Amino acid sequence: MRKPIIAGNWKMYKTLKEAEELVSSLKRQVYDVTDVDIVVCPPYTALSYVADMLEDGNIALGAQDTHWEEEGAWTGEVSAGMLKDAGCLYVIIGHSERRQFFSETDEGVNKKIKAALKNSLIPIVCVGENLNQREKSLTFDIIKEQLTGAFKNINSEEIEKIILAYEPVWAIGTGKVATPQQAQEVHKYIRDWLAKNYGEQASRQIRIQYGGSVKPDNIAGLMLEEDIDGALVGGASLKADSFGAIVINSRKKG
Ligand code: 13P
Repeated sequence: MRKPIIAGNWKMYKTLKEAEELVSSLKRQVYDVTDVDIVVCPPYTALSYVADMLEDGNIALGAQDTHWEEEGAWTGEVSAGMLKDAGCLYVIIGHSERRQFFSETDEGVNKKIKAALKNSLIPIVCVGENLNQREKSLTFDIIKEQLTGAFKNINSEEIEKIILAYEPVWAIGTGKVATPQQAQEVHKYIRDWLAKNYGEQASRQIRIQYGGSVKPDNIAGLMLEEDIDGALVGGASLKADSFGAIVINSRKKG
Protein backbone atom coordinates (compact mmCIF):
# COMPACT_ATOMS: atom_id res chain seq x y z
CA MET A 1 0.00 0.00 0.00
CA ARG A 2 1.20 3.52 -0.77
CA LYS A 3 2.14 5.57 2.29
CA PRO A 4 0.08 8.78 2.54
CA ILE A 5 1.99 12.00 2.03
CA ILE A 6 0.71 15.35 3.31
CA ALA A 7 2.62 18.46 2.26
CA GLY A 8 2.01 22.05 3.33
CA ASN A 9 2.65 24.72 0.71
CA TRP A 10 3.08 27.91 2.69
CA LYS A 11 3.20 30.05 -0.48
CA MET A 12 4.32 33.63 0.29
CA TYR A 13 3.55 33.51 4.01
CA LYS A 14 5.56 33.39 7.25
CA THR A 15 8.43 35.41 8.61
CA LEU A 16 11.10 33.51 10.55
CA LYS A 17 9.34 34.19 13.84
CA GLU A 18 6.00 33.00 12.46
CA ALA A 19 7.66 29.95 10.93
CA GLU A 20 9.20 29.10 14.27
CA GLU A 21 5.83 29.27 16.03
CA LEU A 22 4.12 27.14 13.41
CA VAL A 23 6.81 24.47 13.24
CA SER A 24 7.31 24.11 16.97
CA SER A 25 3.60 23.66 17.51
CA LEU A 26 3.27 21.27 14.55
CA LYS A 27 6.12 19.13 15.86
CA ARG A 28 4.25 18.65 19.14
CA GLN A 29 1.08 17.66 17.32
CA VAL A 30 2.52 15.06 14.96
CA TYR A 31 5.55 13.81 16.89
CA ASP A 32 4.33 10.22 17.01
CA VAL A 33 3.09 9.94 13.41
CA THR A 34 5.16 7.44 11.44
CA ASP A 35 2.59 6.15 8.94
CA VAL A 36 2.28 9.42 7.00
CA ASP A 37 5.07 11.30 5.22
CA ILE A 38 4.83 14.91 6.40
CA VAL A 39 6.38 17.79 4.46
CA VAL A 40 6.43 21.57 4.94
CA CYS A 41 7.36 23.93 2.11
CA PRO A 42 8.23 27.38 3.50
CA PRO A 43 9.36 30.35 1.38
CA TYR A 44 13.06 30.37 0.43
CA THR A 45 13.97 32.80 3.21
CA ALA A 46 12.90 30.35 5.93
CA LEU A 47 14.23 27.09 4.45
CA SER A 48 17.52 26.78 6.23
CA TYR A 49 16.04 28.05 9.50
CA VAL A 50 13.20 25.52 9.38
CA ALA A 51 15.67 22.79 8.33
CA ASP A 52 17.47 23.25 11.63
CA MET A 53 14.20 22.97 13.53
CA LEU A 54 13.26 19.75 11.73
CA GLU A 55 16.54 17.93 12.25
CA ASP A 56 16.09 14.27 13.30
CA GLY A 57 12.30 14.56 13.30
CA ASN A 58 9.46 13.09 11.25
CA ILE A 59 8.75 16.24 9.20
CA ALA A 60 10.66 16.78 5.97
CA LEU A 61 11.47 20.03 4.20
CA GLY A 62 10.46 21.06 0.69
CA ALA A 63 10.80 24.16 -1.49
CA GLN A 64 8.09 25.73 -3.64
CA ASP A 65 10.03 25.98 -6.90
CA THR A 66 13.52 25.69 -8.35
CA HIS A 67 15.46 26.96 -11.31
CA TRP A 68 16.69 24.38 -13.82
CA GLU A 69 20.28 25.57 -14.08
CA GLU A 70 22.89 24.56 -11.53
CA GLU A 71 24.20 28.12 -11.13
CA GLY A 72 24.69 31.26 -13.17
CA ALA A 73 23.57 34.82 -13.84
CA TRP A 74 19.88 34.30 -13.06
CA THR A 75 18.98 37.17 -10.74
CA GLY A 76 16.39 36.21 -8.17
CA GLU A 77 16.50 32.48 -8.86
CA VAL A 78 17.52 29.53 -6.67
CA SER A 79 18.95 26.23 -7.95
CA ALA A 80 18.09 22.67 -6.98
CA GLY A 81 21.62 22.20 -5.62
CA MET A 82 21.10 25.22 -3.36
CA LEU A 83 17.80 23.80 -2.12
CA LYS A 84 19.47 20.51 -1.32
CA ASP A 85 22.21 22.40 0.47
CA ALA A 86 19.58 24.26 2.54
CA GLY A 87 18.17 20.95 3.75
CA CYS A 88 15.32 20.24 1.31
CA LEU A 89 14.24 16.76 0.36
CA TYR A 90 11.27 17.79 -1.81
CA VAL A 91 10.50 20.54 -4.29
CA ILE A 92 7.12 21.57 -5.72
CA ILE A 93 7.30 21.99 -9.50
CA GLY A 94 4.71 23.40 -11.91
CA HIS A 95 2.30 24.80 -9.34
CA SER A 96 -0.64 26.46 -11.10
CA GLU A 97 0.28 29.82 -9.54
CA ARG A 98 3.70 29.56 -11.23
CA ARG A 99 2.04 28.57 -14.50
CA GLN A 100 -0.61 31.30 -14.27
CA PHE A 101 1.31 34.28 -12.89
CA PHE A 102 4.90 33.54 -13.92
CA SER A 103 4.34 32.04 -17.38
CA GLU A 104 5.71 28.64 -16.44
CA THR A 105 5.48 26.20 -19.35
CA ASP A 106 5.45 22.42 -19.54
CA GLU A 107 8.92 22.67 -21.06
CA GLY A 108 10.16 24.62 -18.03
CA VAL A 109 8.51 22.11 -15.71
CA ASN A 110 10.34 19.31 -17.54
CA LYS A 111 13.72 21.03 -17.13
CA LYS A 112 13.06 21.69 -13.45
CA ILE A 113 12.13 18.04 -12.83
CA LYS A 114 15.42 16.96 -14.38
CA ALA A 115 17.38 19.46 -12.26
CA ALA A 116 15.61 18.28 -9.09
CA LEU A 117 16.31 14.59 -9.80
CA LYS A 118 19.94 15.32 -10.59
CA ASN A 119 20.25 16.84 -7.13
CA SER A 120 18.39 14.00 -5.37
CA LEU A 121 15.35 16.12 -4.63
CA ILE A 122 11.91 14.54 -4.88
CA PRO A 123 9.78 16.59 -7.30
CA ILE A 124 6.13 17.15 -6.39
CA VAL A 125 4.79 17.79 -9.88
CA CYS A 126 1.50 19.70 -10.07
CA VAL A 127 -1.08 19.35 -12.81
CA GLY A 128 -4.64 20.61 -13.03
CA GLU A 129 -7.27 22.26 -15.19
CA ASN A 130 -8.92 25.64 -14.69
CA LEU A 131 -12.66 26.25 -14.45
CA ASN A 132 -13.07 27.21 -18.09
CA GLN A 133 -11.32 24.03 -19.20
CA ARG A 134 -13.44 21.88 -16.87
CA GLU A 135 -16.64 23.46 -18.12
CA LYS A 136 -15.61 22.69 -21.68
CA SER A 137 -14.94 19.05 -20.69
CA LEU A 138 -11.25 19.49 -21.46
CA THR A 139 -9.97 18.22 -18.10
CA PHE A 140 -8.44 14.97 -19.33
CA ASP A 141 -6.93 16.63 -22.41
CA ILE A 142 -5.24 19.26 -20.26
CA ILE A 143 -3.94 16.71 -17.77
CA LYS A 144 -2.59 14.55 -20.58
CA GLU A 145 -0.86 17.53 -22.18
CA GLN A 146 0.71 18.58 -18.87
CA LEU A 147 1.88 15.03 -18.07
CA THR A 148 3.32 14.50 -21.55
CA GLY A 149 5.20 17.79 -21.39
CA ALA A 150 6.41 17.41 -17.83
CA PHE A 151 7.79 13.90 -18.27
CA LYS A 152 9.38 14.22 -21.68
CA ASN A 153 12.52 12.04 -21.71
CA ILE A 154 12.00 10.99 -18.09
CA ASN A 155 12.65 7.25 -17.86
CA SER A 156 10.93 4.58 -15.74
CA GLU A 157 13.60 4.62 -13.09
CA GLU A 158 13.24 8.39 -12.70
CA ILE A 159 9.45 8.48 -12.74
CA GLU A 160 9.28 6.21 -9.69
CA LYS A 161 10.99 8.94 -7.65
CA ILE A 162 8.31 11.49 -8.46
CA ILE A 163 5.19 12.55 -6.60
CA LEU A 164 2.25 13.95 -8.50
CA ALA A 165 -0.27 16.47 -7.26
CA TYR A 166 -3.62 16.97 -8.95
CA GLU A 167 -4.66 20.52 -8.18
CA PRO A 168 -7.76 21.71 -10.03
CA VAL A 169 -7.19 25.45 -10.31
CA TRP A 170 -10.85 26.19 -9.55
CA ALA A 171 -10.49 24.53 -6.14
CA ILE A 172 -7.35 26.38 -5.01
CA GLY A 173 -7.97 28.95 -2.30
CA THR A 174 -11.67 29.09 -3.20
CA GLY A 175 -13.08 26.87 -0.48
CA LYS A 176 -14.59 24.89 -3.35
CA VAL A 177 -13.10 21.44 -2.85
CA ALA A 178 -13.46 18.84 -5.59
CA THR A 179 -15.72 16.04 -4.43
CA PRO A 180 -13.87 12.82 -3.66
CA GLN A 181 -15.45 11.35 -6.83
CA GLN A 182 -14.36 14.28 -9.01
CA ALA A 183 -10.82 14.01 -7.68
CA GLN A 184 -10.73 10.21 -7.91
CA GLU A 185 -11.78 10.32 -11.54
CA VAL A 186 -8.77 12.45 -12.47
CA HIS A 187 -6.39 10.56 -10.17
CA LYS A 188 -7.42 7.35 -11.91
CA TYR A 189 -6.84 8.99 -15.29
CA ILE A 190 -3.34 9.99 -14.16
CA ARG A 191 -2.59 6.49 -12.85
CA ASP A 192 -3.79 4.92 -16.10
CA TRP A 193 -1.59 7.34 -18.05
CA LEU A 194 1.38 6.28 -15.91
CA ALA A 195 0.58 2.60 -16.51
CA LYS A 196 0.36 3.13 -20.24
CA ASN A 197 3.61 5.07 -20.46
CA TYR A 198 5.70 3.54 -17.68
CA GLY A 199 4.12 0.18 -16.86
CA GLU A 200 2.01 -1.27 -14.08
CA GLN A 201 4.67 -1.30 -11.42
CA ALA A 202 5.46 2.41 -11.68
CA SER A 203 1.79 3.26 -11.84
CA ARG A 204 0.99 1.26 -8.71
CA GLN A 205 3.88 2.75 -6.78
CA ILE A 206 3.68 6.48 -7.59
CA ARG A 207 1.80 8.60 -5.09
CA ILE A 208 -0.73 11.16 -6.30
CA GLN A 209 -1.77 13.96 -3.95
CA TYR A 210 -4.92 16.02 -4.24
CA GLY A 211 -4.71 19.79 -3.67
CA GLY A 212 -7.40 22.47 -3.49
CA SER A 213 -9.20 23.62 -0.33
CA VAL A 214 -8.18 20.56 1.70
CA LYS A 215 -9.27 20.96 5.33
CA PRO A 216 -9.36 18.75 8.44
CA ASP A 217 -12.99 17.86 7.77
CA ASN A 218 -12.69 16.82 4.11
CA ILE A 219 -9.36 14.98 4.02
CA ALA A 220 -10.68 11.65 5.34
CA GLY A 221 -13.33 11.43 2.62
CA LEU A 222 -10.74 12.15 -0.06
CA MET A 223 -8.34 9.56 1.36
CA LEU A 224 -10.98 6.85 1.09
CA GLU A 225 -10.66 7.01 -2.68
CA GLU A 226 -8.44 4.35 -4.17
CA ASP A 227 -6.08 6.59 -6.11
CA ILE A 228 -5.75 9.51 -3.67
CA ASP A 229 -2.56 9.14 -1.66
CA GLY A 230 -2.37 12.39 0.24
CA ALA A 231 -2.75 16.12 -0.09
CA LEU A 232 -0.92 19.29 -1.02
CA VAL A 233 -2.35 21.84 1.37
CA GLY A 234 -2.26 25.62 1.03
CA GLY A 235 -4.29 27.79 3.42
CA ALA A 236 -4.88 25.10 6.04
CA SER A 237 -1.14 24.41 6.31
CA LEU A 238 -0.53 27.87 7.79
CA LYS A 239 -1.91 26.90 11.18
CA ALA A 240 -0.46 24.03 13.18
CA ASP A 241 -3.89 22.96 14.44
CA SER A 242 -5.44 22.53 11.03
CA PHE A 243 -2.36 21.07 9.33
CA GLY A 244 -1.80 18.67 12.24
CA ALA A 245 -5.44 17.59 12.06
CA ILE A 246 -5.17 16.98 8.31
CA VAL A 247 -2.12 14.77 8.92
CA ILE A 248 -3.94 12.81 11.63
CA ASN A 249 -7.17 12.48 9.62
CA SER A 250 -5.30 11.29 6.54
CA ARG A 251 -4.39 8.09 8.39
CA LYS A 252 -7.90 6.68 8.22
CA LYS A 253 -7.27 5.08 4.88
CA GLY A 254 -7.60 1.30 4.65
P1 13P B 1 -5.50 25.79 -0.80
O1 13P B 1 -5.38 24.59 0.11
O2 13P B 1 -5.34 27.09 -0.07
O3 13P B 1 -6.71 25.72 -1.66
O4 13P B 1 -4.24 25.74 -1.80
C1 13P B 1 -3.94 24.58 -2.46
C2 13P B 1 -2.61 24.69 -3.08
O5 13P B 1 -2.42 25.48 -3.99
C3 13P B 1 -1.53 23.87 -2.56
O6 13P B 1 -0.41 23.91 -3.37
